[in-house]
Amino acid sequence: MKLINNINSLKDTIKQSKGLIGFVPTMGALHDGHMSLIKKAREQNDIVLVSIFINPAQFLHGEDFEHYPTKISEDNNMCKLAGVDILFTPTKDMMYADDEVVVKAPMLSSYMLEGLKRPGHFDGVLQVVLKLFNLIQPTNAYFGKKDAQQLSLIKQMVSDLFLDINIIECEIIRENDGLAMSSRNIYLDANDRKLALNIYKSLKTASNMIKQNHTNCEQIIINMTNALIGLDIEYISIVNQRFRKIEKIIIGDTIILVAIKVGKTRLIDNIWI
Ligand code: PAF
Repeated sequence: MKLINNINSLKDTIKQSKGLIGFVPTMGALHDGHMSLIKKAREQNDIVLVSIFINPAQFLHGEDFEHYPTKISEDNNMCKLAGVDILFTPTKDMMYADDEVVVKAPMLSSYMLEGLKRPGHFDGVLQVVLKLFNLIQPTNAYFGKKDAQQLSLIKQMVSDLFLDINIIECEIIRENDGLAMSSRNIYLDANDRKLALNIYKSLKTASNMIKQNHTNCEQIIINMTNALIGLDIEYISIVNQRFRKIEKIIIGDTIILVAIKVGKTRLIDNIWI
């Protein structure tokens, strides 16, 4: 595995590379969710490139940027074992200038849900993803469905800015008890972790209702809220894949999303119907 930590050697390496490039952007603290993206990239491409960069532009003031979990030597080993060809670990100064051209996420779908709680977050995500896409010029780029709104906005950016990159959506990977894998799960103590399981239970409540042919989103949200009673719910929402709120479930084009706070930790999860 080649380790690259500067822009010029990345550009040289990309210029010399032949074949399909599969790109997995990450902020490190890799877990099985990331590994499933890397595995898929390995199956579908000649070259697999993983980036690890904790992107300051997507953190709001007071969020956990300074304390975001890092475990670079474990990440390194995991990438090596997974057959990654190139691990790119730039610094903030390499990626950003002081007063630079910025990408703006679309208003309607980026200032709702995650974007309402974290205004500007998706501008920062799109900014860094576009920079990475331009540097790496991947054939395929891999994103998890857990960050459903991020995935939808990245797909929209690729389409709106005419980028020639396939966005590959990857399934949510869960612990045995149903908790969606996340780098932030390490913040949870035993009690918080038990409470966090209610998120998946509430999503199961929704999917069971839909299996029994309930399609009214308002009623589904009421039952999910009941399943989360006593917890600090930030939102429960039912949208289509373009992140427009819907009133009735549309099989094949519905995402049910939940965000709650457990202790100081924000957790998000969703299911695609
Ligand atoms: O999903 C993430 O880890 C980040 O938002 C991403 C896509 C690597 C951009 O910083």
